[in-house]
Amino acid sequence: MLTEQERERIRAEATHYDYPQAACVEALKIVQEGHRWVSDEHLKEVAGLLDMSPEALDSVATFYNLIFRKPVGENVILLCDSVSCWILGYENICAHLKTRLGVELGETTADGKFTLLPMACLGTCDRGPAMMVGSDLHRNLDNEKVDEILGRYRQTPEA
Ligand code: FES
Repeated sequence: MLTEQERERIRAEATHYDYPQAACVEALKIVQEGHRWVSDEHLKEVAGLLDMSPEALDSVATFYNLIFRKPVGENVILLCDSVSCWILGYENICAHLKTRLGVELGETTADGKFTLLPMACLGTCDRGPAMMVGSDLHRNLDNEKVDEILGRYRQTPEA
C-alpha cells in the first residue's frame, strides 16, 4: 500500500497537468523514492489515482529504464556500457565490479546493498569509464577507485 503522504503527493502532482495521466512518470518516481521499486500493487494504486489502466501505466514504467519494476538493492549502480566508456576500459571495470560484488549485471548482492545494472551513456564520455551509484556520478574509474567507492557506500545505510 502507498502511504497517505505518497497518495497526496501524487494527487498534487496530477493537478499540474490538464490530464492526470501526464503526471505518471513523476508519480512512479514518488513511489520509487519510498520503496526503491514499483511493485504490481503500487502500480495498480497509482493507475487508479491517475485514472488510467495498470497496463498503460506499466508500459510507461517499462519504457523508462530508471523506473525499476523489480526489487533493487539499497544502492543501484548504473555502469555505462556505451562506446566511449567501452574504449576507456568498461570491460575491466565491469569484471572488477562483478568480482567485488559477487553478482552478474542485473543482479543484487546477497546483502541487498547493491544492484548492478548496465546503462547507456551517462553524458561524461571524455571521463570514462563512468558509473552512477544512486544519484552520484563517478568518473575516470579504475579498480582502486571502484573499491574505494564501494567501501564508502557499504558504510552508509542508505547512500
Ligand atoms: S559513453 Fe560512457 S558516459 Fe558517455
